[in-house]
Amino acid sequence: MTASQRRAKRVAVANNKGGTGKTSSTINLAAALAEAGYNVLVIDLDPQGNAGRRLALAADPAQPTVSDVLKTLAERPDASLEGCAADAFAEIGWPSPYNERITLLPSRTDLENRAMLEAGQLGAVHRLEVALDGADDELDIVLIDCPPNLGHLTQLALAAADVALCVMDPELDGIEGAMALRDFVANNRKKLGNSSLEVVGYIVNRVDTRTGAHKFQVEESIPEIFGQDLWQPLLPERVAIKDAADADPPRPLRALGRDGEEMASRFDKLAAQLTARVGLEVPTVEVS
Ligand SMILES: Nc1ncnc2c1ncn2[C@@H]1O[C@H](COP(=O)(O)OP(=O)(O)OP(=O)(O)O)[C@@H](O)[C@H]1O
Ligand SMILES: [Mg+2]
Repeated sequence: MTASQRRAKRVAVANNKGGTGKTSSTINLAAALAEAGYNVLVIDLDPQGNAGRRLALAADPAQPTVSDVLKTLAERPDASLEGCAADAFAEIGWPSPYNERITLLPSRTDLENRAMLEAGQLGAVHRLEVALDGADDELDIVLIDCPPNLGHLTQLALAAADVALCVMDPELDGIEGAMALRDFVANNRKKLGNSSLEVVGYIVNRVDTRTGAHKFQVEESIPEIFGQDLWQPLLPERVAIKDAADADPPRPLRALGRDGEEMASRFDKLAAQLTARVGLEVPTVEVS
């Protein structure tokens, strides 16, 4: 298979709990992958639209979004619409080389209504998969940023994905959310038409080992529950994550210079594990 025929590896980034760092991990893994020369699609599947904002998407009311893509598929069930996600691809606002290698499928708040309309409809859970088939053939990897639940939007991602990746914080709720994702995948992958789907890795974010509870969770509880699927390195609580996300305009970690470097290099290592785990070849493009 040549590079131009290859379908990208699709990764659903999820957890049943909010605020664990799903979006931060999605965009910073995308940055690490882009730096390594991979062509990445980030799908913002959260009506909050945090991934798009943090990738400095230009405000443009005419920009189609993932809800437009889903609506098109819902309204034209007989049409051949495979690959129609490409109609809503957007450029990100980060500088080169990121903007050359990261494409965004953005979301808006109306995605919430779309999900409510479509949840439970026969076949609706496969609409993202249909929309992507063919649209991501020229890309290497697709990272799907899920909302903090296991509802219809996350199910769209799980139906379309090759693998799931969980981001948790080292607190009881975050761990329970990760276990809920793991069990949901195990119990529902067949119903999602994706019987080989697995949660291939657990990233632990926002670790503060000065907190006794965090120290216990990362040293004992989390390794015991998730075993070798627990990925290293852990991600500490660092202000650089917020500084990059909340800058005007938002920027990649390495644009912060030394302040962003420590976290960026941790994401490089996690990105290398991801590419190894999904069997992605080293890109042939030259890295500037
Ligand atoms: N390692 C970290 N250090 C410091 N702040 C962090 C870290 N990771 C994430 N944050 C901050 O925590 C907040 C929540 O992170 P993020 O939005 O990535 O989580 P999320 O899981 O996507 O949330 P949601 O469930 O709402 O989608 C954000 O303000 C983000 O900047
Ligand atoms: Mg998020």
